[in-house]
Amino acid sequence: MNGSFQAIQISPSVYWVGAIDWALRQFHGYETRRGSTYNAYLVKGDDGYILIDTVKKGFEDELLARIATVCPPDQVRAIISNHAEMDHSGGLPRVLAAIAPDAPVYASPMGVKALAAHFGDAVRALPAKGTLTLLGRTFRVVETRMMHWPDSMWTYDEADRILFTNDAFGMHLAGQARWADEVPADIIEDESARYFANILTIYAPIIAKCCAGYPALGLDPAAICPDHGPCWRGDGIARILSQYAAWSNPERSRKKAVLIYDTMWHSTETMARAIADGIAGTGLPCDVLPLSGTPRSEVARALLDASALIVGTPTLNQGMYPTVADVLCYLKGLKFPIELGAVFGSHGWAPLGTKAAKEALAPMCKTTLDPLDLCYVPTPEGLARCREYGESIAKRIL
Ligand code: FEO
Repeated sequence: MNGSFQAIQISPSVYWVGAIDWALRQFHGYETRRGSTYNAYLVKGDDGYILIDTVKKGFEDELLARIATVCPPDQVRAIISNHAEMDHSGGLPRVLAAIAPDAPVYASPMGVKALAAHFGDAVRALPAKGTLTLLGRTFRVVETRMMHWPDSMWTYDEADRILFTNDAFGMHLAGQARWADEVPADIIEDESARYFANILTIYAPIIAKCCAGYPALGLDPAAICPDHGPCWRGDGIARILSQYAAWSNPERSRKKAVLIYDTMWHSTETMARAIADGIAGTGLPCDVLPLSGTPRSEVARALLDASALIVGTPTLNQGMYPTVADVLCYLKGLKFPIELGAVFGSHGWAPLGTKAAKEALAPMCKTTLDPLDLCYVPTPEGLARCREYGESIAKRIL
């Protein structure tokens, strides 16, 4: 075993034994600029240990090395798999073989099917519902469908009052700190919001119901331990719970616009600057994001707090600019509750870029304005129209 990895005790009977992926920069289309962690937890029972989740394939050695600093791996008698996505289950076959191939694996009923579909006979999981007693320890399992997949569940350790939530309340943030209160607050706020925006926005209506039903679960966690990034304790627990309630509520105040654009010969960029200036004159905050240098996940992060999306595209080959099409495809899937959409751009002989962008944007928005099109290079009169366009967008939001 690699002696450089240590387990970290987080409660009397629970140890963090996960892996840190410092190099991760893409997570299915989401730019993870600060890397990530794949958290796994070892819980001490009467005669052995229970492992909660595993790690992404390729990180098994790190997980097994951390386990070995607590107990011989064959003392791990059971595994609870809260989620079948491969960043948590990819290492499961190898870890299972390393501890004891016949150790039981528990998952939600949907998780049993998902693990079978991923690993066949290598992982034959048993369904967990309600209360699970393992090695003298009592766990409550709570199905949390679509947080993040249909198989997702939480596991609550009654004795140490630890709630293991898998993807929920996590963030892509590599680091040695195991508690959110040990990391600068601005990083925690930004990365947890970025994670919600890019991973969970599509399921916001389901998450809102889960948040509303949370008090009735009767849980009283001393810590919430997700599978990505640091854990929550103290005031952090109430804070992240209330943030999830807010982010999943489409009615919350979101008085901000996001303006994204790309440009061929700087004409659409010139329009973007004039529109942004018109918005600024009204006092409405507006994030201006040139897509030549902005990842799609940054746009999603900005949109979490906004109610207007303004899209600038030149016409290229009778359609949208490729970067604009890419971002609109990504945002369409996430289903942000956008109140107002607007489109602008420069064209040569036919404004087909803005036409295509409006067609893509309109299904995402309650209202979509007619495009503002200018031919070739904006004139002073054209830029005055851009400014007015920005002002009219802002006034609708304000
Ligand atoms: Fe972190 Fe849905 O996996």
